[in-house]
Amino acid sequence: MPWLPLSQVWNIWKFGYEPFQAVGSDSLCLATPNGNMLWTCDTAIIKQLFTLHTVQVPVKILKFYDIWGPTLGSVEGEEWKTHRKVVTYGLNPSTLPTVWNEAIHQTRTLIQRWAQDDSVIPVAKHWTSRLALHVIASVFFDMKLDWREYTQAGKPPADGYRISFENALFTVVSRLGMIFIVPRTLMRILPFKALQDTHIALTDWTKYMQQLRAKATDNIEEVAAKRNKTILESVVVAGTPSAARPDNRALSEESVLGNIFFTLMAGHETTGNSLAFALLLLAVHPQHQSAIQRELDAHFGTRPMDEWTVEHDYQILRKGYLGATVQEVLRVYNVVQFIFRITIASTTVRDSKGVSHTIPEYTTCLINVGGAFHNPSVWTPTPVPASKKADLHHSPAIEFDPTRFLNISDEDDETFWPFGYGPRKCPGMPFAQVEMIGVISSMLKDHSLELVVSEKTLQNHKGNRQAAWEQTRDEAIRKLRDDVESNMNIQMVKELPIRLVERDMVA
Ligand code: HEM
Repeated sequence: MPWLPLSQVWNIWKFGYEPFQAVGSDSLCLATPNGNMLWTCDTAIIKQLFTLHTVQVPVKILKFYDIWGPTLGSVEGEEWKTHRKVVTYGLNPSTLPTVWNEAIHQTRTLIQRWAQDDSVIPVAKHWTSRLALHVIASVFFDMKLDWREYTQAGKPPADGYRISFENALFTVVSRLGMIFIVPRTLMRILPFKALQDTHIALTDWTKYMQQLRAKATDNIEEVAAKRNKTILESVVVAGTPSAARPDNRALSEESVLGNIFFTLMAGHETTGNSLAFALLLLAVHPQHQSAIQRELDAHFGTRPMDEWTVEHDYQILRKGYLGATVQEVLRVYNVVQFIFRITIASTTVRDSKGVSHTIPEYTTCLINVGGAFHNPSVWTPTPVPASKKADLHHSPAIEFDPTRFLNISDEDDETFWPFGYGPRKCPGMPFAQVEMIGVISSMLKDHSLELVVSEKTLQNHKGNRQAAWEQTRDEAIRKLRDDVESNMNIQMVKELPIRLVERDMVA
């Protein structure tokens, strides 16, 4: 495998296939003062990294996740198996009807909320992340959140608390960076409002969670017998040995709280950011939106949304154009662009061309998901002329084409594994898929998403609406390259206004 030229070190963090193209190889090595690193977007190598027993998650660098105690994200081996069993039990299929119903309810009430702002949505992610949090609050804790602003003046706190449940939750998830870095004692005593607000939110959030956990442990047999448990209740049941379940390994309060929060965190921004990319891509590519709407009309007719079910309707939509669209969003903008692994012994892998490579012990491996899902040897680029692609800044949005997934089932994970692969594969995959399909179907059944063409652009084109729209679309496609930020996820935080309009049923 080639060594990464120093001139390309910064480029490698760019999302997509570009950095590999610049160097002309699908795998690259780098020697650093902290040891060797391997970057790869070669699917054959990646699948071995996901499954070989000499390759592990580098848990030492992930200890910052442990706000309360160890979680499945920060442990390996037998300990990980215990945590994984508990979390998988929490995310069992009996939760999916609640995910579906809540996703549809939240979308319908969001559409009413948007109407207050003339249905113009400047930053889609702002709303889709909140929507994802509302669905989580319902499925994890049976807490119903609405679209009022989260403010101190909002809902009053419960007795014995300084802020409400939703305010605490929202503050904690939006200040994660601070929570991971600043020790709690410092947070409490340093005279900065942001730190002190975060400290109050974290303290109250911990108390709310402890209270919910205690409610479940105090009535554990009754809770265990419930058919529809919240995720918190299921995690508590699976982590509490009892006469009826003597095999359950006891999970400390810190680990129950930690795992619930880690799972919530893993499912919140991933789904919220993916949904934002979906809405933006559909506004940029109206032909795919129309294809979804034709499918929704043919499937639902005039059946009211209250009667849509996850057991019947979701299963059909998942296999159709809408399912293919969700897959393509996850390919073109997979929000988890990098996944880390480390070799704990010398490891031999075989690449896609059949060539063997030996990776030395303690090499940090960076699985470049974005590169793999744009690798032209696997994914045929769209037939847009090279000069036009350059004019559009080689944006991934150019490559958006759901039809490539129409005949591929989502169980076919040979080249496409947006939720990971092997034992660590995302246990929230059905949750995320049900939510995304619930949101998009209930949004597009009676409404369409469109780009907002400014008056100035229209004037520049002397009132020619088609030309003005095309210019707006090209600008949006460029923004979907230049303005995408890479944090723990990739996300579109800058403005790219879209509007929701009622569908013209006659047309
Ligand atoms: C579009 C949405 C999502 C994407 C793209 C996604 C992607 C992923 C990926 C790639 C991994 C594997 C990481 C690795 O191998 O180290 C993962 C792990 C995980 N995901 Fe998701 N995820 C999504 C939504 C969710 C949701 C909704 C939940 C829960 C409600 C969730 C919970 C988890 C958990 C708990 C893990 C850790 C599993 C372990 O370490 O054993 N994810 N996710």
